Amino acid sequence: MQVIIVKDKAQMGKTAAEIVAEGMQAKEHFVLGLATGTTPIPLYRELIRMHRKEGLDFSTTITFNLDEYVGIEGTHEQSYRFFMNRELFDHVNINKKATHVPDGMADDAEMFCAEYESMIADCGGVDCQVLGIGSNGHIGFNEPGTSLGSRTHKTALTESTVKDNSRLFEKVEDVPTEALTMGIGTILDAESILLLASGANKAKAVADAIEGPVTATCPASALQFHPNVTFVITEDAATVLKLEWVRA
Ligand code: F6R
Repeated sequence: MQVIIVKDKAQMGKTAAEIVAEGMQAKEHFVLGLATGTTPIPLYRELIRMHRKEGLDFSTTITFNLDEYVGIEGTHEQSYRFFMNRELFDHVNINKKATHVPDGMADDAEMFCAEYESMIADCGGVDCQVLGIGSNGHIGFNEPGTSLGSRTHKTALTESTVKDNSRLFEKVEDVPTEALTMGIGTILDAESILLLASGANKAKAVADAIEGPVTATCPASALQFHPNVTFVITEDAATVLKLEWVRA
């Protein structure tokens, strides 16, 4: 596991974008796993800049998003499909048909989740999975207690996640309480994983993920099993970490 501690969010975005761009340039039909939320926005801004100023080409890139709320359309401003279009896809030369976000309106969620797994497999698997982390250690919408071997599934959001996400909705009652999410097992199948974290409110979850015991109580701790994980975290998200090797 590699841990890169950077000064601020802008530096986190630049460092992460360099890693993603290197992968995209090394492989045609690069399969990129994506996350939503506040954390990856500096990464997406930097990728857009690299596309505009340095010609970073998205035309053959394939993307799979981690998750989507259940019960809201992709046209809803708080849906993750809408977020991805607004924050990245609408600003680069990606083929929208090659961008995949779970369908939160699927009639048969179970069947859809199985299909999502097959679609990922048919593309040869995810080459690089971008992750954020919840203050409770969740990755995707895999809340504490989720099986470390889980596959794409429908899940209920915890009260703390609903509360964290309510800042983006008019009132807390508007926040969906269920989501479709890649499972922890699905995430661990990616060739490489890039976890981003910024802010003091993430410091404990980051420390638990990197140097705590591997436990479903902190879903991100499962990343310790993966051979190719990079954490890019800001200084304020690194304050609870103890290990000297991390700071070397
Ligand atoms: C979003 C996702 C979530 C977020 C996490 C952190 O697709 O999978 O796990 O990464 O909730 O969210 P932010 O970045 O808003 O703090």
